[in-house]
Amino acid sequence: MKNQIEEVKSKFLSEISSVEDEKQLEELRVKYLGRRGIIQSLFDKLREVPKEEKPALGKLLNELKELAQGKYNEKKLEIKGKKAKVESFVDLTIPGRLKYTGRKHPLTQTLEEIKKIFIGMGFEVASGPEIEDDYHNFEALNIPPEHPARDMQDTFFIEDKIILRTHTSPVQIRVMESKKPPVRIIAPGRVYRNEAISARSYCLFHQVEGLYVDEGVSFAELKGTLLAFAKQMFGSDVKLRFRPSFFPFTEPSAEVDVSCFICGGKGCRVCKYGGWLEILGCGMVDPNVFKFVGYDAEKYTGYAFGMGVERIAMLKYGIDDIRLFYENDFRFLDQF
Ligand code: FA5
Ligand code: MG
Repeated sequence: MKNQIEEVKSKFLSEISSVEDEKQLEELRVKYLGRRGIIQSLFDKLREVPKEEKPALGKLLNELKELAQGKYNEKKLEIKGKKAKVESFVDLTIPGRLKYTGRKHPLTQTLEEIKKIFIGMGFEVASGPEIEDDYHNFEALNIPPEHPARDMQDTFFIEDKIILRTHTSPVQIRVMESKKPPVRIIAPGRVYRNEAISARSYCLFHQVEGLYVDEGVSFAELKGTLLAFAKQMFGSDVKLRFRPSFFPFTEPSAEVDVSCFICGGKGCRVCKYGGWLEILGCGMVDPNVFKFVGYDAEKYTGYAFGMGVERIAMLKYGIDDIRLFYENDFRFLDQF
């Protein structure tokens, strides 16, 4: 009997080591541990052995049963774990993960579109420093110290005569200082003003300056160019309104409004309930400015304009608060 127990034990161990799935394991369980299994049949035989051998053989049998049960439990866990692993690796029904791709900020997109339109009309792209001197930002633009026009552009000072540029107009001066007419440029860039912040005004924003100087340039050309721009930017239904205005560096001067796309002209907080939104200032270059850069004011005329990029993006995309551009909120940026 003792030999029989040893035999069963080694057979069981070799068989369980080759079990690979739940079905095989269940067959093995029935064969060895079942109610009519091999181990139970050994217990049945125990009744027939001589009394004095019973305790030792009973102990061996119990050990065999425990060992078999333990190995069975172990195997069961192993198979279950394998199955879970396999399932998680090969579930082909799980949809793939979308890879997030970045995109250009709506202001960058708007700037690029503005550039493209003007480049198409023969303008070159120029640039100038954001940290500017008083001479280029004000004086050469015919805004002497103490001139009340300085009040229109609340300025951030770095030093006494060094400032953050309040508009892109100083690039006009820098370009004319370095080049003889004809000049036809746009100058996109960032500008800074110590403004009261609201839905339509911010302390930092972008402008695109335009300047065209040659013999015989007229206000009619300015109007035609801006209208051509607006139609490409906003669609051919767009309406422009030229309002007489004042800038020390242009004469005559105008501000241009676009019919408000957000409210359809009915009035909203972006157009200050007027149905129009101001997008730019413009005019014919003042002869005094030509004197500062050494151009012959008798020979040349020119026009200039400076447009607000945020205002144009707001109109184009129906954005009702300028602050959204600077908050870096993904829920906003994701929409462009
Ligand atoms: C100027 O800055 C002049 N340099 C424009 C100019 C250029 C006139 C060339 C004549 C010849 P103004 O301060 O109005 O003008 O600003 C021009 C445009 O910038 C405005 O029409 C508006 O669209 C935008 N803008 C002005 N202030 C703000 C602000 N705080 N936030 C956002 N956009 C602004
Ligand atoms: Mg203005």
